[in-house]
Amino acid sequence: MGQADIAIIGVGVMGSNLALNMAEQGTTVALYDLDAEKVQSFARDNFAGKLIACRDLTELVAAVRTPRPLIMLAPAGETVDALIGALNPLIDAGDILIDAGNSAFRDTQRRAQESEARGNAFLGIGVSGGAEGARRGPAMMAGGSRGVWERVAPVFEKVAAKHDGHPCAAWLGPDGAGHFVKSAHNGIEYALMQMIAECYGILRDGFGMSAPEIGDVFTEWNKGALDCYLVDITAAALKATDKESGHPLVDVILDRAGQKGTGLWTAVEAQRLGVPATTVEGALIGRSWSARRDERLTLERHYGPAPRRIADAGLDPKSMLREALIAGKIIAYSQGFALIDAASRAHDWGVNLADVAKVWRAGCIIRSRLLGEMATALEMERVTTGSGVPLLLREPFIGMMKAADPAFRGTVATAAVYGLPAPALSSALNWFDLARTGQSTANLIQAQRDYFGSHGFERTDRDGGGYHGAWR
Ligand code: 6PG
Repeated sequence: MGQADIAIIGVGVMGSNLALNMAEQGTTVALYDLDAEKVQSFARDNFAGKLIACRDLTELVAAVRTPRPLIMLAPAGETVDALIGALNPLIDAGDILIDAGNSAFRDTQRRAQESEARGNAFLGIGVSGGAEGARRGPAMMAGGSRGVWERVAPVFEKVAAKHDGHPCAAWLGPDGAGHFVKSAHNGIEYALMQMIAECYGILRDGFGMSAPEIGDVFTEWNKGALDCYLVDITAAALKATDKESGHPLVDVILDRAGQKGTGLWTAVEAQRLGVPATTVEGALIGRSWSARRDERLTLERHYGPAPRRIADAGLDPKSMLREALIAGKIIAYSQGFALIDAASRAHDWGVNLADVAKVWRAGCIIRSRLLGEMATALEMERVTTGSGVPLLLREPFIGMMKAADPAFRGTVATAAVYGLPAPALSSALNWFDLARTGQSTANLIQAQRDYFGSHGFERTDRDGGGYHGAWR
């Protein structure tokens, strides 16, 4: 009979920190990693007796009390399938497989079905907060059977980040709901990071400010509506110095951003669901162009460098950009919540958006002071209309968007005039203008479709569809 309460498979950065966090909270954790030596010394050096290093999966399974909760922290994709395949012959019916990696929700749906058919429960839990979060308190977005979650919840709630004493770990819906919410979280993460980088670019290239000077601006912004983790770490990153060269560290970092796929999945799912998530797409465009560095350098040689100094002495860049970032931020979250709502309806998950906002209030990368008010607004919207989508229909967001409007437009317009790229902020503004335009231009799209393909249209003055124009 095993001693451990739970197992962690994959003792990398996230796994080791989560294991330390759990051990500190009194949970006994069995550990396995391909690098068996590393796990042995890790267990020996930390929380004597609370961490049990296992040499292989058989030993690991034997080390955990039944029904066994087995947390997998593996790179998304085939590795997770291979791991499940290796565990299946070793585990008993009733054991609980928990994928706490960044898996695509469709994989989670399939794995849950396969595992349940074998008599094993499957939870897909999105974990956010990076290494520090895993150690000190991550946010956890659980999907799967509610009853199964409730059985393991105490262990997760103990290690999760707390907001006003409430754990940021919650069951959000069945099958892939947890991983979908994590993917939407990452979409918002991409969007916010890109918008912040765009403000940095405008201050650096448009106003000639140094990295530490811009760092001070972000420190100032890290209050009120912009008080959030990403603005906080941006300020710190901009003020860091490279020990080797003595230059600001950001100035010696190559401008080529990586990505592991969650932002892309979010944008693809948004398109599938017909939910415009322009800020995620803007962020992806930024990352994709960043990766194509050689092409950028070639084009710059042909066209000259785009960024120009902003000549308008009347502009107060700090307050203009601050307001633009507030508006962009509200729109990024709006798009994320709208996306979760649409997926929840499409897959019949019944996700409560206010619960999502509450889970995101602490521990995760997109934690922000505004999330408390977002949770309240989303709760109100759900109660009164049954729709959790329109953050923008509730105060204080209506007032904030109206107040930010001139600066938001000014920022996007100035960036365009001076050739400073702002794909996320400008696509956020376009989204907003599309969203608030009662009479769109799609009547012409319908005319074109009917003209070349006889696709039919609806009329403003009659019911039904299928009308055609006498075009020729
Ligand atoms: C989190 C992060 C985390 C990871 C991202 C990075 O919530 O803790 O989102 O999961 O840092 O997946 O993603 P990219 O490599 O795609 O930027």
